[in-house]
Amino acid sequence: MSHEEFPTENPAVVTCGLPYANGDLHIGHLRTYVGGDIYSRSLRKLGQETAFVSGSDMHGTPVAVNAEKEGVTPEEFALRHHEKYEATFPRFDIDFDNYGHTHDETNTELTQDIVRTLEDEGYVYEKEIPVAYDPDADQWLPDRFVEGACPYCGEHARGDECDEGCGRHLEPGEIEDPTSTLTGNPAEYRERQHKFFAVSDLQEYLQEFIDRLEGTSNAQNQPREWIEGELQDWCITRDMDWGIDYPGDEADDLVLYVWVDAPIEYISSTKQYTERVGADVFDWEQAWKESGDIVHIIGRDIIQHHTVFWPAMLKGAGYIEPRAVMASGFITLNGKGFSTSRNRAVWADEYLDEGFHPDLLRYYLATNGGFQQDVDFSWSKFRERVNSELVGTVGNFLYRSMLFAYRNFEGTPEADVSEEVRDRIQEAIDEFGAAINDYSIRKSGNAAVRLAQFGNEYIQRNEPWKLTDEDPEAAAQVIRDCVQIAKAIAVIFQPVAPAKMQALWEQLGEDGEVADTRIEDALETPPASFGEPEALFEKIEDERVEELNEKLAERVAATESESDESEEDADESMADESDLEPIADDRISFEEFQELDLRVGEVLDAEGIDGADKLAKLTVDIGVEERQIVAGIKQLHDLSDLPGKKVIIVANLEKAELFGTESNGMLLAAGDQADLLTTYDDATPGTKVQ
Ligand code: MF3
Ligand code: ZN
Repeated sequence: MSHEEFPTENPAVVTCGLPYANGDLHIGHLRTYVGGDIYSRSLRKLGQETAFVSGSDMHGTPVAVNAEKEGVTPEEFALRHHEKYEATFPRFDIDFDNYGHTHDETNTELTQDIVRTLEDEGYVYEKEIPVAYDPDADQWLPDRFVEGACPYCGEHARGDECDEGCGRHLEPGEIEDPTSTLTGNPAEYRERQHKFFAVSDLQEYLQEFIDRLEGTSNAQNQPREWIEGELQDWCITRDMDWGIDYPGDEADDLVLYVWVDAPIEYISSTKQYTERVGADVFDWEQAWKESGDIVHIIGRDIIQHHTVFWPAMLKGAGYIEPRAVMASGFITLNGKGFSTSRNRAVWADEYLDEGFHPDLLRYYLATNGGFQQDVDFSWSKFRERVNSELVGTVGNFLYRSMLFAYRNFEGTPEADVSEEVRDRIQEAIDEFGAAINDYSIRKSGNAAVRLAQFGNEYIQRNEPWKLTDEDPEAAAQVIRDCVQIAKAIAVIFQPVAPAKMQALWEQLGEDGEVADTRIEDALETPPASFGEPEALFEKIEDERVEELNEKLAERVAATESESDESEEDADESMADESDLEPIADDRISFEEFQELDLRVGEVLDAEGIDGADKLAKLTVDIGVEERQIVAGIKQLHDLSDLPGKKVIIVANLEKAELFGTESNGMLLAAGDQADLLTTYDDATPGTKVQ
């Protein structure tokens, strides 16, 4: 079953992964929230009925561990952060229709109700399992209270997730060599009764579901390994006080695992929205039980929860399934991970206090790379994009054309829009709609910037300043066209830059809110008169960037000298400051390097190897011949995107057989995510790399 294009007749729900209420927000955290806000605004622009919801994730050990460090109760700690988040999002124009939290009554009731339904439907059973225990502290050690080695990849891992290695969710009892994070002592495993959700009963369903799922390709591909392999059941209870009580009284010393009640907040938050505005405005039950288009926007570290456990819960409890999951890449700061404990971050409040407009950051985060690509933030790249694209292209076009219109016509000249310009605006409208249906926020933002670029070319080509005396009618035509382009930009760019585009809307003499316009309004006639325009975007000076870089460096240095460097990082969903391998002291000679035959190749074909989780078989043209190469990139790339891409191959590596398939050469890639090496320009296949 494939889905109908947006806009559909259904109510849509756009959700953002719930932030754990356990720390301050930095601009890296904002990526998925800005993405969700733009996506929901864009759906509305297409005429889709849409609710945009999220809430704070109050429970679980991520909150309990940090509250304990501060010596306050988890409830007090979580509420304080929740209130902070609730106040911060609107400052970036991230306008949730409802922003709740997982500890409120709506979510507590709905969670218990869903768990009871799963029980009634026969999906829940009890099992005795080993649970980590700290004999010195005399406490059970759920999730982040225990650390050890991942049983799948051997990396250092937390009790419930292999956060530094393979990224898998880990079940209680799975972690090897468990150590208590409370005392640092080795933990023991003790037997304990827990409740399990029989995810394995829904395996067949999940296999079909994943074929239907839309969104970014990482979310569609990465879970296949789990869904198609042996699907484990999921322990849904924990030995803790903080959380939502397991319903009923037989298990009254257990709370639900945080990952049970957290996604249910997506539904609870929608329900609260309906309670506020009425079911005739937005009907949460229709959206979640009958015919909603649910789009989840998350960080890529929580794909497994959203494509396996969550749809299984929804299915088991009689709710409808998500239509799409958009999973973002990580974000780094000057090429290294954000680090809360080392103060290596640009904090959300700090960004605004420095006097930067939220729309600049929204634009940067939304369009700097594809949503699933990793994005690097640096003040200098930020300046570069603001100055060249927002000031140079968009701002420049808007200011010069509107100023010209104001001075010569006191507004919009009387004429019809030319066919050329009408067609070009229609093209931008189509580009916007296609981008949203393709789940590409970047492309939707670029539709407006490209239109501004066209506007600049159009003015340049027609030189209206020369025409005002010679041919006033022709001048009027050009300016009429430009004002229409300006109006179209206001409409199309509004989801990305809502405040700036509202200012433009007012400059154009329009009434009301540009937020209420539909995409086709881009072609409606602008008001006949308007006042003198003002520049919408301002250049960021080099000195500002130097100053900001210095401030950041000083702060990091100050924190590093005062804090224990080995301190655990508290960041969620972000790439951690990477422990880069040091460069070995031994050098190789140039001759040794030359023994490597590195060649440029072009991928002709790429397909997954059946039965292998990670391997893909590639056919690569290396000029002199075609090679078959096996590479471990199956879940890391959308294989259908690869044909036509340039890659770098070690051509003289001895042949190997992997999974019964011959590999004749090696593909070069960087890091855990297998970022493929390619060429900067147009070197042809077979060219030697030297
Ligand atoms: N708080 C979780 C995290 O930051 C995300 C929860 S998303 C939801 O990893 F699906 F549970 F809602
Ligand atoms: Zn692992």
